[in-house]
Amino acid sequence: MALEDYSCALVTGASSGIGAAVVRSLRARGLTVHAVARRRERLEVLAEETGCECHELDVRDTARVFEVIGALDADIVVNNAGLGRGFGNLHEARPEDIDTTIDTNVRAAIQVLRASLPGMLARNRGHLVNMSSVSALHPLASTVYGASKAALHLLSQNLRLELAGSRVRVTEICPGRVSTEFFDAAIDEPEKRSALKVTGITELAAGDIADAVIYALDAPWRVNVSLIELQPTEQIFGGMSLRPAN
Ligand SMILES: NC(=O)c1ccc[n+]([C@@H]2O[C@H](COP(=O)([O-])OP(=O)(O)OC[C@H]3O[C@@H](n4cnc5c(N)ncnc54)[C@H](OP(=O)(O)O)[C@@H]3O)[C@@H](O)[C@H]2O)c1
Repeated sequence: MALEDYSCALVTGASSGIGAAVVRSLRARGLTVHAVARRRERLEVLAEETGCECHELDVRDTARVFEVIGALDADIVVNNAGLGRGFGNLHEARPEDIDTTIDTNVRAAIQVLRASLPGMLARNRGHLVNMSSVSALHPLASTVYGASKAALHLLSQNLRLELAGSRVRVTEICPGRVSTEFFDAAIDEPEKRSALKVTGITELAAGDIADAVIYALDAPWRVNVSLIELQPTEQIFGGMSLRPAN
């Protein structure tokens, strides 16, 4: 089962960044692609460019998720909608931002999978791609966001166990810094935002992540690409912090 065996894909968070790049790549390979996000006008521009189908949908609305996504018969689900409200120190995060991040990155992502899986299992064919992060794998100064992506990390591994014996594959993608609108959506304060946004390094492009998604989807049936971690060459993890307390 490789990409040519799939005909219909769903991409959440398709109105910008990584999701839009994945829609472009899947359309270029001839699949029917259903693009989901809240900003209808962005989706309409993408539909004009690529011929994808648009669904204006807040993935936190569980009833609508089941109504829209449950009816699609998607072979591929790219579970990509996500954000980083409350990025930074937990003790400074706004309580409502913590709720938004956990609601979107964890609760809604699980409901998207729940809505998609029965059809895949009935057809015994499918591929779930969870857009996680290096924050799921490495300690970083983004406590809530990292926790939300770590939930997706174990969820992906548990799903592989749960789906053993079926022809539904699961892939987790863990990107490092990608040049998208992520920090524009995450942080309201201009100074804090530009301190995080302006890095001086060459970041990954959204198309680099789409290439990784296509690689996983296009692998032959015997290969389940379980996890791909991509980092900018100039972003490095690891080390130790020794800081005397005041
Ligand atoms: N950029 C990075 O450095 C990076 C690194 C690792 C992982 N990631 C992950 O990659 C994914 C895509 O992010 P991005 O970098 O491409 O940022 P982005 O350009 O801000 O894209 C985020 C997408 O998620 C959608 N979204 C957010 N909340 C939603 C909701 N409630 N319902 C439906 N759609 C929603 C947004 O669409 P609307 O606002 O139109 O709804 C948008 O299309 C996220 O899961 C993010 O955590 C990003």
